[in-house]
Amino acid sequence: MRSLLFVPGDSPKKLDKGMTSGADALIVDLEDSVSAQRKAEARTSALAFLRETAKATSRPRLLVRVNALDTGLTDDDLDAVVQGKPDAIMLPKAEGGVSVTHLHSKLSAREAMAGLPDGEIGIVALATETASSLFTTGSYRGSSSRLAALTWGAEDLSAELGAEANRDEQGRFLDPYRLARSLCLAGAAAAGVPAIDTVYVDFRNDAGLREEAREARRDGFTAKMAIHPAQVEAINEVFTPTADAIAHAQSIVDAFAENPGAGVVGIGGKMFDRPHLTRALILLARAGPRRES
Ligand code: COA
Ligand code: MG
Repeated sequence: MRSLLFVPGDSPKKLDKGMTSGADALIVDLEDSVSAQRKAEARTSALAFLRETAKATSRPRLLVRVNALDTGLTDDDLDAVVQGKPDAIMLPKAEGGVSVTHLHSKLSAREAMAGLPDGEIGIVALATETASSLFTTGSYRGSSSRLAALTWGAEDLSAELGAEANRDEQGRFLDPYRLARSLCLAGAAAAGVPAIDTVYVDFRNDAGLREEAREARRDGFTAKMAIHPAQVEAINEVFTPTADAIAHAQSIVDAFAENPGAGVVGIGGKMFDRPHLTRALILLARAGPRRES
Protein backbone atom coordinates (compact mmCIF):
# COMPACT_ATOMS: atom_id res chain seq x y z
CA MET A 1 0.00 0.00 0.00
CA ARG A 2 1.49 3.28 -1.15
CA SER A 3 -1.31 5.86 -1.21
CA LEU A 4 -4.35 6.29 1.04
CA LEU A 5 -6.87 8.93 -0.04
CA PHE A 6 -9.11 10.63 2.52
CA VAL A 7 -12.69 11.05 1.36
CA PRO A 8 -15.34 12.84 3.43
CA GLY A 9 -17.88 10.15 4.30
CA ASP A 10 -20.88 12.42 3.70
CA SER A 11 -20.00 12.98 0.03
CA PRO A 12 -21.21 10.16 -2.25
CA LYS A 13 -19.78 12.08 -5.21
CA LYS A 14 -16.26 12.15 -3.75
CA LEU A 15 -16.58 8.54 -2.64
CA ASP A 16 -17.25 7.54 -6.24
CA LYS A 17 -14.44 9.72 -7.48
CA GLY A 18 -12.09 8.08 -5.00
CA MET A 19 -12.71 4.70 -6.64
CA THR A 20 -11.12 5.88 -9.89
CA SER A 21 -8.34 7.92 -8.28
CA GLY A 22 -5.73 5.17 -8.44
CA ALA A 23 -5.28 5.24 -4.67
CA ASP A 24 -4.32 1.92 -3.08
CA ALA A 25 -6.71 2.66 -0.24
CA LEU A 26 -9.57 5.03 0.53
CA ILE A 27 -10.10 6.37 4.04
CA VAL A 28 -13.81 7.07 4.35
CA ASP A 29 -13.84 9.84 6.91
CA LEU A 30 -16.49 10.17 9.60
CA GLU A 31 -14.32 12.48 11.72
CA ASP A 32 -12.85 15.93 11.07
CA SER A 33 -14.06 16.45 7.51
CA VAL A 34 -17.68 15.81 8.54
CA SER A 35 -19.56 18.43 10.55
CA ALA A 36 -21.42 17.47 13.74
CA GLN A 37 -24.81 17.85 12.05
CA ARG A 38 -23.85 15.47 9.26
CA LYS A 39 -22.35 12.58 11.25
CA ALA A 40 -25.49 10.44 10.95
CA GLU A 41 -25.77 11.07 7.23
CA ALA A 42 -22.08 10.24 6.79
CA ARG A 43 -22.50 6.89 8.57
CA THR A 44 -25.37 5.98 6.25
CA SER A 45 -23.55 6.93 3.07
CA ALA A 46 -20.34 5.26 4.27
CA LEU A 47 -22.20 1.99 4.81
CA ALA A 48 -23.94 2.22 1.44
CA PHE A 49 -20.56 2.82 -0.19
CA LEU A 50 -18.91 -0.11 1.60
CA ARG A 51 -21.74 -2.43 0.57
CA GLU A 52 -21.67 -1.30 -3.02
CA THR A 53 -17.90 -1.53 -3.44
CA ALA A 54 -17.68 -4.91 -1.69
CA LYS A 55 -19.00 -6.35 -4.96
CA ALA A 56 -16.24 -4.82 -7.11
CA THR A 57 -13.71 -7.36 -8.35
CA SER A 58 -10.82 -4.98 -8.11
CA ARG A 59 -11.04 -2.19 -5.60
CA PRO A 60 -8.84 -0.16 -3.30
CA ARG A 61 -8.61 -1.21 0.33
CA LEU A 62 -11.32 0.49 2.32
CA LEU A 63 -10.70 2.10 5.70
CA VAL A 64 -13.15 4.07 7.78
CA ARG A 65 -11.90 6.81 10.09
CA VAL A 66 -14.24 6.83 13.07
CA ASN A 67 -14.51 9.57 15.67
CA ALA A 68 -12.10 9.43 18.62
CA LEU A 69 -12.79 7.27 21.65
CA ASP A 70 -13.53 10.25 23.92
CA THR A 71 -16.17 11.83 21.67
CA GLY A 72 -19.04 9.50 22.52
CA LEU A 73 -19.51 8.93 18.77
CA THR A 74 -17.29 5.89 18.22
CA ASP A 75 -19.86 3.25 19.10
CA ASP A 76 -22.46 4.64 16.72
CA ASP A 77 -19.82 4.90 13.99
CA LEU A 78 -18.84 1.26 14.46
CA ASP A 79 -22.45 0.08 14.75
CA ALA A 80 -23.04 1.59 11.33
CA VAL A 81 -19.95 0.55 9.37
CA VAL A 82 -18.72 -2.82 10.70
CA GLN A 83 -21.50 -4.66 8.86
CA GLY A 84 -20.06 -3.18 5.65
CA LYS A 85 -16.82 -5.12 6.33
CA PRO A 86 -14.22 -2.38 5.92
CA ASP A 87 -10.65 -3.66 5.67
CA ALA A 88 -9.64 -1.51 8.62
CA ILE A 89 -10.73 1.19 11.03
CA MET A 90 -8.54 4.26 11.39
CA LEU A 91 -8.47 5.48 14.98
CA PRO A 92 -7.80 9.23 15.33
CA LYS A 93 -6.29 10.73 18.49
CA ALA A 94 -5.03 7.32 19.57
CA GLU A 95 -3.10 7.41 22.81
CA GLY A 96 -0.97 4.31 22.73
CA GLY A 97 -1.60 0.59 22.81
CA VAL A 98 -4.46 0.90 25.33
CA SER A 99 -6.57 2.82 22.78
CA VAL A 100 -5.95 0.10 20.22
CA THR A 101 -6.84 -2.65 22.69
CA HIS A 102 -10.03 -0.73 23.54
CA LEU A 103 -11.02 -0.47 19.87
CA HIS A 104 -10.09 -4.13 19.36
CA SER A 105 -12.77 -5.20 21.88
CA LYS A 106 -15.37 -2.93 20.33
CA LEU A 107 -14.65 -4.50 16.94
CA SER A 108 -14.75 -8.06 18.27
CA ALA A 109 -18.20 -7.49 19.76
CA ARG A 110 -19.52 -6.05 16.53
CA GLU A 111 -17.93 -8.68 14.30
CA ALA A 112 -19.66 -11.32 16.41
CA MET A 113 -23.02 -9.55 16.15
CA ALA A 114 -22.63 -9.14 12.37
CA GLY A 115 -21.63 -12.79 11.95
CA LEU A 116 -18.19 -11.82 10.64
CA PRO A 117 -15.03 -13.80 11.34
CA ASP A 118 -13.25 -12.54 14.45
CA GLY A 119 -10.29 -10.24 13.95
CA GLU A 120 -10.62 -9.58 10.22
CA ILE A 121 -11.00 -5.83 10.49
CA GLY A 122 -7.64 -4.19 11.03
CA ILE A 123 -6.72 -1.04 12.96
CA VAL A 124 -4.59 1.86 11.75
CA ALA A 125 -3.77 4.25 14.59
CA LEU A 126 -3.21 7.98 14.20
CA ALA A 127 -0.54 8.10 16.84
CA THR A 128 0.48 11.74 17.35
CA GLU A 129 -2.59 13.97 17.36
CA THR A 130 -2.66 14.87 21.05
CA ALA A 131 0.10 16.13 23.33
CA SER A 132 -0.30 13.06 25.58
CA SER A 133 -0.07 10.72 22.64
CA LEU A 134 3.56 11.72 22.04
CA PHE A 135 4.48 10.02 25.32
CA THR A 136 2.76 6.76 24.34
CA THR A 137 4.12 6.04 20.88
CA GLY A 138 6.33 3.22 22.21
CA SER A 139 3.38 1.26 23.61
CA TYR A 140 1.76 -0.15 20.45
CA ARG A 141 3.77 -3.36 20.32
CA GLY A 142 1.57 -6.33 21.18
CA SER A 143 -1.52 -4.16 21.70
CA SER A 144 -3.68 -6.00 19.18
CA SER A 145 -3.36 -8.56 16.41
CA ARG A 146 -5.47 -6.14 14.40
CA LEU A 147 -2.85 -3.38 14.37
CA ALA A 148 -1.95 -2.91 10.69
CA ALA A 149 -0.05 0.39 10.64
CA LEU A 150 0.69 3.62 12.47
CA THR A 151 0.39 7.06 11.02
CA TRP A 152 0.72 10.56 12.38
CA GLY A 153 -0.96 13.93 12.20
CA ALA A 154 0.21 17.51 12.67
CA GLU A 155 -3.04 19.47 12.42
CA ASP A 156 -4.75 18.48 15.66
CA LEU A 157 -1.39 18.40 17.42
CA SER A 158 -0.60 21.99 16.47
CA ALA A 159 -4.03 23.09 17.70
CA GLU A 160 -3.48 21.30 21.00
CA LEU A 161 0.01 22.75 21.43
CA GLY A 162 -1.33 26.24 20.82
CA ALA A 163 0.97 26.79 17.85
CA GLU A 164 0.53 29.46 15.19
CA ALA A 165 1.82 27.16 12.46
CA ASN A 166 3.16 23.67 12.01
CA ARG A 167 5.29 24.38 8.92
CA ASP A 168 7.90 27.07 8.20
CA GLU A 169 7.75 29.54 5.29
CA GLN A 170 9.24 26.91 2.95
CA GLY A 171 6.54 24.44 3.91
CA ARG A 172 8.77 22.17 6.01
CA PHE A 173 7.45 20.81 9.29
CA LEU A 174 8.68 22.61 12.40
CA ASP A 175 10.42 20.83 15.29
CA PRO A 176 7.43 19.62 17.34
CA TYR A 177 5.98 17.93 14.25
CA ARG A 178 9.28 16.46 13.14
CA LEU A 179 9.44 14.92 16.61
CA ALA A 180 5.92 13.51 16.18
CA ARG A 181 6.89 12.13 12.77
CA SER A 182 9.99 10.44 14.18
CA LEU A 183 8.06 9.00 17.12
CA CYS A 184 5.51 7.53 14.72
CA LEU A 185 8.29 5.95 12.68
CA ALA A 186 9.99 4.45 15.73
CA GLY A 187 6.70 3.37 17.32
CA ALA A 188 5.67 1.59 14.13
CA ALA A 189 9.02 -0.17 13.76
CA ALA A 190 8.91 -1.20 17.43
CA ALA A 191 5.42 -2.61 16.90
CA GLY A 192 6.46 -4.36 13.69
CA VAL A 193 3.97 -2.53 11.47
CA PRO A 194 4.40 -0.10 8.55
CA ALA A 195 4.56 3.66 9.15
CA ILE A 196 2.39 5.86 6.93
CA ASP A 197 3.30 9.50 6.39
CA THR A 198 0.81 12.27 7.09
CA VAL A 199 -1.11 14.44 4.61
CA TYR A 200 0.25 17.33 2.58
CA VAL A 201 -2.51 19.92 2.73
CA ASP A 202 -1.18 22.26 0.02
CA PHE A 203 -2.86 20.15 -2.64
CA ARG A 204 -1.95 22.25 -5.69
CA ASN A 205 1.80 22.08 -4.90
CA ASP A 206 3.00 18.97 -6.68
CA ALA A 207 6.72 19.66 -6.23
CA GLY A 208 6.31 20.17 -2.49
CA LEU A 209 4.29 16.97 -2.18
CA ARG A 210 6.90 14.96 -4.10
CA GLU A 211 9.72 16.28 -1.97
CA GLU A 212 7.91 15.47 1.26
CA ALA A 213 7.00 11.99 -0.03
CA ARG A 214 10.62 11.30 -1.04
CA GLU A 215 11.87 12.35 2.39
CA ALA A 216 9.28 10.07 3.98
CA ARG A 217 10.38 7.11 1.86
CA ARG A 218 14.03 7.84 2.61
CA ASP A 219 13.33 7.80 6.33
CA GLY A 220 11.36 4.53 6.35
CA PHE A 221 7.72 5.38 5.71
CA THR A 222 6.15 3.01 3.19
CA ALA A 223 3.10 5.08 2.22
CA LYS A 224 1.58 8.54 2.44
CA MET A 225 -1.95 9.77 2.93
CA ALA A 226 -3.59 12.11 0.40
CA ILE A 227 -6.47 14.56 0.69
CA HIS A 228 -7.06 15.16 -3.02
CA PRO A 229 -7.13 12.76 -6.00
CA ALA A 230 -4.51 14.89 -7.76
CA GLN A 231 -1.97 13.81 -5.10
CA VAL A 232 -2.33 10.09 -5.69
CA GLU A 233 -0.17 9.70 -8.78
CA ALA A 234 2.87 11.44 -7.26
CA ILE A 235 2.60 9.40 -4.06
CA ASN A 236 2.28 6.11 -5.95
CA GLU A 237 5.27 7.01 -8.05
CA VAL A 238 7.50 7.90 -5.12
CA PHE A 239 6.60 4.79 -3.11
CA THR A 240 6.97 2.36 -6.00
CA PRO A 241 10.56 1.07 -5.86
CA THR A 242 12.46 2.13 -9.00
CA ALA A 243 14.20 -0.37 -11.28
CA ASP A 244 17.56 1.00 -10.08
CA ALA A 245 16.63 0.56 -6.43
CA ILE A 246 15.44 -2.99 -7.09
CA ALA A 247 18.63 -3.86 -9.00
CA HIS A 248 20.78 -2.41 -6.22
CA ALA A 249 18.90 -4.32 -3.53
CA GLN A 250 19.15 -7.51 -5.58
CA SER A 251 22.93 -7.03 -5.91
CA ILE A 252 23.23 -6.88 -2.13
CA VAL A 253 21.12 -10.01 -1.66
CA ASP A 254 23.13 -11.80 -4.39
CA ALA A 255 26.46 -10.81 -2.85
CA PHE A 256 25.46 -12.30 0.50
CA ALA A 257 24.12 -15.43 -1.22
CA GLU A 258 27.45 -15.88 -3.03
CA ASN A 259 29.36 -15.50 0.22
CA PRO A 260 27.53 -17.76 2.64
CA GLY A 261 28.50 -17.07 6.21
CA ALA A 262 29.85 -13.61 5.39
CA GLY A 263 28.81 -10.86 7.77
CA VAL A 264 29.94 -8.15 5.44
CA VAL A 265 30.59 -7.80 1.67
CA GLY A 266 32.03 -5.16 -0.63
CA ILE A 267 30.17 -4.05 -3.74
CA GLY A 268 31.52 -1.34 -6.03
CA GLY A 269 33.92 -0.09 -3.38
CA LYS A 270 31.33 0.18 -0.61
CA MET A 271 30.77 -1.87 2.50
CA PHE A 272 27.46 -3.67 3.07
CA ASP A 273 26.64 -5.56 6.25
CA ARG A 274 23.58 -7.17 7.82
CA PRO A 275 21.44 -4.01 8.19
CA HIS A 276 21.95 -3.32 4.49
CA LEU A 277 20.83 -6.86 3.69
CA THR A 278 17.74 -6.36 5.86
CA ARG A 279 16.92 -3.13 4.06
CA ALA A 280 17.45 -4.75 0.66
CA LEU A 281 15.11 -7.63 1.56
CA ILE A 282 12.44 -5.19 2.75
CA LEU A 283 12.66 -3.25 -0.49
CA LEU A 284 12.43 -6.42 -2.61
CA ALA A 285 9.44 -7.59 -0.59
CA ARG A 286 7.71 -4.28 -1.30
CA ALA A 287 8.69 -4.42 -4.97
CA GLY A 288 6.75 -7.59 -5.58
CA PRO A 289 6.92 -11.37 -5.45
CA ARG A 290 9.88 -12.70 -3.52
CA ARG A 291 12.94 -13.19 -5.66
CA GLU A 292 15.24 -16.20 -5.51
CA SER A 293 18.65 -15.37 -4.17
N1 COA B 1 -11.74 12.41 -2.69
C1 COA B 1 -12.47 12.25 -3.79
N2 COA B 1 -12.75 13.25 -4.66
C2 COA B 1 -12.25 14.47 -4.36
C3 COA B 1 -11.49 14.69 -3.22
C4 COA B 1 -11.24 13.61 -2.35
N3 COA B 1 -10.50 13.74 -1.24
N4 COA B 1 -11.11 15.98 -3.18
C5 COA B 1 -11.62 16.55 -4.29
N5 COA B 1 -12.32 15.65 -5.00
C6 COA B 1 -13.02 15.86 -6.27
C7 COA B 1 -13.95 17.04 -6.21
O1 COA B 1 -15.22 16.65 -5.76
C8 COA B 1 -13.96 17.50 -7.65
O2 COA B 1 -14.82 16.64 -8.36
P1 COA B 1 -15.57 17.16 -9.72
O3 COA B 1 -14.46 17.53 -10.67
O4 COA B 1 -16.35 15.97 -10.14
O5 COA B 1 -16.37 18.33 -9.27
C9 COA B 1 -12.54 17.19 -8.11
O6 COA B 1 -12.04 16.19 -7.23
C10 COA B 1 -11.64 18.39 -8.07
O7 COA B 1 -11.68 18.97 -6.80
P2 COA B 1 -11.18 20.46 -6.54
O8 COA B 1 -12.18 21.41 -7.09
O9 COA B 1 -9.79 20.57 -7.00
O10 COA B 1 -11.16 20.55 -4.97
P3 COA B 1 -12.39 20.96 -4.04
O11 COA B 1 -12.30 22.42 -3.75
O12 COA B 1 -13.66 20.39 -4.56
O13 COA B 1 -12.04 20.17 -2.71
C11 COA B 1 -11.14 19.74 -0.57
C12 COA B 1 -10.98 20.52 -1.86
C13 COA B 1 -9.93 19.97 0.31
C14 COA B 1 -12.42 20.18 0.15
C15 COA B 1 -11.25 18.25 -0.94
O14 COA B 1 -10.08 17.90 -1.62
C16 COA B 1 -11.51 17.27 0.19
O15 COA B 1 -12.62 17.10 0.62
N6 COA B 1 -10.45 16.58 0.65
C17 COA B 1 -10.56 15.59 1.69
C18 COA B 1 -10.67 16.25 3.04
C19 COA B 1 -10.58 15.24 4.15
O16 COA B 1 -11.06 14.13 4.06
N7 COA B 1 -9.92 15.62 5.25
C20 COA B 1 -9.74 14.76 6.37
C21 COA B 1 -8.35 14.29 6.47
S1 COA B 1 -7.15 15.52 6.79
MG1 MG C 1 -7.89 15.55 12.73
